[in-house]
Parts: sequence; structure tokens; C-alpha cells
Amino acid sequence: MKTYNKIQELQNELQAQRNQGKTIGFVPTMGALHQGHISLVHQARAACDIVVVSIFVNPIQFNNPEDLKKYPRTYEADAKLLEEATCDYIFYPTVGEMYPEKVTKKYDFGNLETVMEGAFREGHFNGVGVVVNKLFEIVNADKAFFGKKDFQQLAIIRSLVEIENLSVEIIAGETMRECDGLAMSSRNVRLTEEERTFAPEIFSTLNWVKENMENHSPIELMEVAMKRLSVHFKPEYFQIVDGLSLQMINSWDETNYPVACVAAHLGQVRLIDNIELNR
Ligand code: PAJ
Repeated sequence: MKTYNKIQELQNELQAQRNQGKTIGFVPTMGALHQGHISLVHQARAACDIVVVSIFVNPIQFNNPEDLKKYPRTYEADAKLLEEATCDYIFYPTVGEMYPEKVTKKYDFGNLETVMEGAFREGHFNGVGVVVNKLFEIVNADKAFFGKKDFQQLAIIRSLVEIENLSVEIIAGETMRECDGLAMSSRNVRLTEEERTFAPEIFSTLNWVKENMENHSPIELMEVAMKRLSVHFKPEYFQIVDGLSLQMINSWDETNYPVACVAAHLGQVRLIDNIELNR
């Protein structure tokens, strides 16, 4: 495994591999890796000849400066996990390498970016779009792997591929969870011991919604879920949406792909999760 900090050097190496007919799988990350990230690396390993993982805490997708400052940075431990997962190349650029000039690009992701995360985190998805497009340009992968944990991000990435007319194939990985159901996240390490005991209530609420679909409308379930979460969390939203358009539904017959999505603050930490409700 080799780490590259410079775009040009990584590109030279990847071009040499491509010239030998090798396919490239790419997993973009912001580091502080856990088994959720590693599950995507395993998928890339199984599907492609060469596996590239980027580690870049992308400043332009953080709407909260405190969150950016506190974002865990653990390169040494990350490199160890990636070595074990038989990753071939880490791309670990500086902010200056990625953004030599001020970013002015503005994407229009339509209604995908005005709801949920987009409504609460201004500029977030534009920042994600800009960095992922840049990373796609650099790596020029055959397949790129993203987690369903960030359900809306996945929809944005698919939209980005259409807007930019890219040939990369987007592959979605299942959400990896701790034994008690908490979705793995780089931010979980910032929970206090007490908060950590409450954290699984997000997933238990999502499951409760899934189990009660038969007898309740989406609106009723959203309301009760918000109430349940309000005991230990400050929930921002709990929405049942169509999994493709991400627009909220009022009744089950509006979609055949309902997904419940939630964002909630627990102390200083903002957690997100979702569940596919397909009956
Ligand atoms: P990051 O939060 O590091 O996540 C990198 C990838 O890992 C994303 O595709 C995310 O959905 C996936 N992931 C995170 N937690 C997961 C879990 N518990 N199970 C499965 N997959 C999980 O998402 C980003 O970084 C950034 O926005 C990025 C796309 C790299 C652009 O900066």
C-alpha cells in the first residue's frame, strides 16, 4: 500500500495501472475510519483490481466550523486499517492541493438538496458535489462505493454523475452498525458514556416505525417518532420519504420505496440514520 499526497503523482501511478488493463475501485472518505468504511473497501476489493481510498476532511462541506475543527483526524490508525483491508493506494491530499483557488462552482441538485440534510446544513451538498467531482476527475475510477448510511448523499452523488455525465458506476453499501444498532460513524467517538447509552434509540425508533407501518399513516409515524426521540435527543427531522425523489410522503400509496430518515443532536454530536421500509 502506498500513500500519495500529490494529485499528479497518484494520477501517474493510476494511469500506469490502467495501461495494464487494471480496473479501479474508489472509496472516498474523510478518514477516522471504522468498519462502515472498511466494508466499502472490501466491496471495492472484490469488484476491482486496484483499490483507492481517499482521506480528505473537506472543509467546504462543513456548515459548522466547530464540527470541522473537532472532526477526528487519525491518519496512522486509518492507514493500518486500510493496510489490513488490502487497499492499494491512499490519496491523502492537503487542502491547498485540492483547492489551490477559491471554489465558485455551484451545483443545482433540484429538490434533492432542499430537503432534510440540505435544509439544515446550508452549502453542505454543494461542498460534497465539488469535492467528489474533483476526486472522480483525479481517480477516474470504474466503480465508486458509497454507504447508504448517508442516504441523501448517495442520491446527490447519483445526480452529480448525471449532471457531469460521468462514466463511473456508483455502488451502494449497507449501513454497518454497532451490536446495539447504532450506525457506525466517525462522530460516535465524541459521545459521552451516558450519551452513548441513549444513542441506539435512533435505530430502535426507525425499527419501531418499520414495525408499525401496517396500522399507521406516514404522518402519524413521523409525529410519534419525533416525540419518542425528543426524550433524549434534539431531533432536527424525522421524515418518511420516497427513496428516489427524497420528498416526504403523506400516504403509503405515494411510493413503492419508502425510506425513513432521521437527524438528531445528542449533546454536541449530530447523528443521522435511515431505514428502508420496503414491505
Ligand atoms: P465519510 O463520512 O468519511 O464517509 C465515507 C463513506 O463511508 C460514505 O460513503 C459513507 O456513507 C460511508 N459510511 C459512513 N458510515 C457508514 C456505515 N456505518 N456503514 C456503511 N457505510 C458508511 O461521506 C463522506 O465521508 C464525505 O461526505 C465524502 C463522500 C468523502 C465527501 O467528502
